[in-house]
Amino acid sequence: MMKRTYLFAWLVLVSIPLALMHEVSTAAEDPEVTRTRQHVEMLDVLYKTAIVLITDKYVTDPSIFSGASAAKAIFDTMNEHGYHEVRLVGLTDTLISPGLNKPKDAFEEQAKQKLLSGESTHEEVVTLEGKRYLRKATAVPVVMERCVMCHANFKGNEGAIGTLVYTVPLIE
Ligand code: HEC
Repeated sequence: MMKRTYLFAWLVLVSIPLALMHEVSTAAEDPEVTRTRQHVEMLDVLYKTAIVLITDKYVTDPSIFSGASAAKAIFDTMNEHGYHEVRLVGLTDTLISPGLNKPKDAFEEQAKQKLLSGESTHEEVVTLEGKRYLRKATAVPVVMERCVMCHANFKGNEGAIGTLVYTVPLIE
């Protein structure tokens, strides 16, 4: 009988803080950040599918306009329309366009370290000129043999060789 009372007291003591922690952790996640993260996940699937599809079906020769170049043209258009910013950033030592595609700020440098150490994403919420944005970097691995046709240094690399870096206004 005594044992049961102890067990009950222990269960109550453990479950109250757990319940409180649950409340705090669900309350801590800003719904605007959650919504924007889901939006970025959708964009990431869309852009990566398009790049792989273009590379697979059309880019049969190194002289052909690359999937990366096509994607960057689309990123520019989306940015001009004020929707969001996306950058293709290279994480290896040899880049085709180092001037444009190397990490350009502290966030992209941190993303590089994190993705190279095996994480699949890196994110932070920033305020720029009074407006909040989600910045999120997602890994780009060597998804197909065709990539090596133009990037000889990708051969045998099984980790992230690049990242798509999104800067998206929080969805209110
Ligand atoms: C036809 C040649 C070609 C193929 C095939 C190709 N790329 Fe590229 N890639 C380029 C060019 C050209 C750029 C630079 C584009 C720019 O900055 O305007 C580039 C840029 C990149 C970058 C940015 C870093 C850098 O080197 O400037 C990454 C990352 C990248 N490509 C990944 C891939 C992946 C992954 C694949 C396979 C799905 C792939 N590429 C296939 C030509 C190619």
